[in-house]
Amino acid sequence: MKRLYGKSALITGAARGIGKAFAAAFAGEGAVVAIGDVDLPRAEASAAEIGMGAYAVHLDVTDQASIDKAIAFVDDKTDGLDILVNNAGVFDMAPITEITRESYERLFTINVAGTLFTLQAAAKAMIARGKGGKIINMASQAGRRGEPLVAVYCATKAAVISLTQSAGLNLIAHGINVNAISPGVVEGEHWQGVDALFAKYENRPLGEKMRLVGEEVPYGRMGTVEDLIGMAVFLAGPESEYVVAQTYNVDGGNWMS
Ligand SMILES: NC(=O)c1ccc[n+]([C@@H]2O[C@H](COP(=O)([O-])OP(=O)(O)OC[C@H]3O[C@@H](n4cnc5c(N)ncnc54)[C@H](O)[C@@H]3O)[C@@H](O)[C@H]2O)c1
Repeated sequence: MKRLYGKSALITGAARGIGKAFAAAFAGEGAVVAIGDVDLPRAEASAAEIGMGAYAVHLDVTDQASIDKAIAFVDDKTDGLDILVNNAGVFDMAPITEITRESYERLFTINVAGTLFTLQAAAKAMIARGKGGKIINMASQAGRRGEPLVAVYCATKAAVISLTQSAGLNLIAHGINVNAISPGVVEGEHWQGVDALFAKYENRPLGEKMRLVGEEVPYGRMGTVEDLIGMAVFLAGPESEYVVAQTYNVDGGNWMS
């Protein structure tokens, strides 16, 4: 039995990386999945690649009108939105003395405000429909502990963990489960960008930081997008009904809670 059969899902930032892998997995489990992304051509290409069950929607999580439009579109196109994954997120790093307001505002607007107000719009649609729902936020091990060069990104992900707790406690009264996934270090374009920034700030050759963080994972390697799928399907599906306001580490043992 497909675990998400007949469900309607929206995944933000799903044109590539983790969100795209979730979209393919959800479609494989029988859901109809909207790939919401600010990069519409790439979202369309990913939807075409996934095939049946997936479609692309333009979504900029920094723009309230765009959020409202995308949620209304998905809600109308399907039988109503059942699952939201707040996956869109961006990274930056710098020593404390070099952090700019521009970087701070970009990260907080996308990672925190984007998560909160997309969650809010989805929750309103789910409450109006009266059938509950599942909301999954993408946190990070960076939200569990500060890092010397990563202050702002770490703070945004700590905020995502905190928002997950408050929204989870508030929305369970409406049958909406809000939980989060906390990945560690995951191979892909995101980490290629992270590696390039570490190369700059720690004066390393390209690729060295990525190799080192992989070696340090207790499991013995970096994560892949596939490593995260099981938790996402579990939190989106019926088996997580009694799971409320939690953040799950899926990081090869990097963090314990
Ligand atoms: N890759 C990792 O190692 C890792 C680790 C921990 C947490 N995470 C988190 O997981 C999530 C996905 O990570 P990823 O590695 O797939 O990232 P990624 O950079 O590969 O993909 C991010 C996607 O978000 C989209 N996006 C950016 N701004 C947007 C906006 N304003 N509105 C809508 N979409 C927007 C991008 O176009 C892109 O498709 C992020 O929240 C990230 O912080 C990633």
